[in-house]
Amino acid sequence: MTKKFILPLVIIFTFFASCKDNTDKKQETKTIISKEVKAKSKDTNKADYAKRGKIIAQSTGKTLKGRLKSAIQKGGLKNGINICNNVAQKLMDSMSVVHNAKIKRTSLKLRNLDDAPNQEELAILSQYDREIAQGKQIKPIVRKAKDGIHFFAPIFIEDVCLNCHGTIGKKLKAETYKEIKKFYPKDEAINYKKGDLRAIWSITMKE
Ligand code: HEC
Repeated sequence: MTKKFILPLVIIFTFFASCKDNTDKKQETKTIISKEVKAKSKDTNKADYAKRGKIIAQSTGKTLKGRLKSAIQKGGLKNGINICNNVAQKLMDSMSVVHNAKIKRTSLKLRNLDDAPNQEELAILSQYDREIAQGKQIKPIVRKAKDGIHFFAPIFIEDVCLNCHGTIGKKLKAETYKEIKKFYPKDEAINYKKGDLRAIWSITMKE
């Protein structure tokens, strides 16, 4: 993510400008350098937030998946659904405290209506969908906002997800889906295939 700046050019320019004894030119150079430095520190900052956002998303995802797996191993998919239903949000809340950031997952096809996207998230989800359709590789997005730094990153469907988000009658068993529907009568989060964009992380970090 780190951009390389054309520092050598600036140095050459400085050298040139200082050869001529021209205060205007010197001032001009100073302004250019200070602009470069500012741009650089702003960018480094953005890269730092991107790194932090990724770490938060990865560790939260890992914790969620770990819990899900052990719940399924202990009590089957039904237990997994219960874990998702009761534990997912609590787990995300405690991860939010650990990372001192607001952590949310949101999607265009919702299971839990509490995860509905806001306007900005809706725009990101649509942008990602568009980019995927154009065959582009989608990347995390970092933005400065009034309430902090907003970080967005894609969540893709893996094999294990298909047990509860796949196609009914295939990996997603009819009886499992009946159980899901009990908790989420308005569920739309099915018919995904491996590699599909399922959702996004929406993380707000303090500046
Ligand atoms: C055992 C069933 C099960 C499995 C396996 C599963 N999920 Fe879910 N998923 C759920 C349930 C239930 C919810 C609703 C959770 C809640 O109420 O917070 C959910 C919610 C979500 C959400 C939140 C958005 C929404 O629609 O409410 C995302 C994102 C998500 N799942 C992604 C995944 C991914 C990615 C995988 C695979 C790594 C996966 N799930 C595996 C059952 C499952």
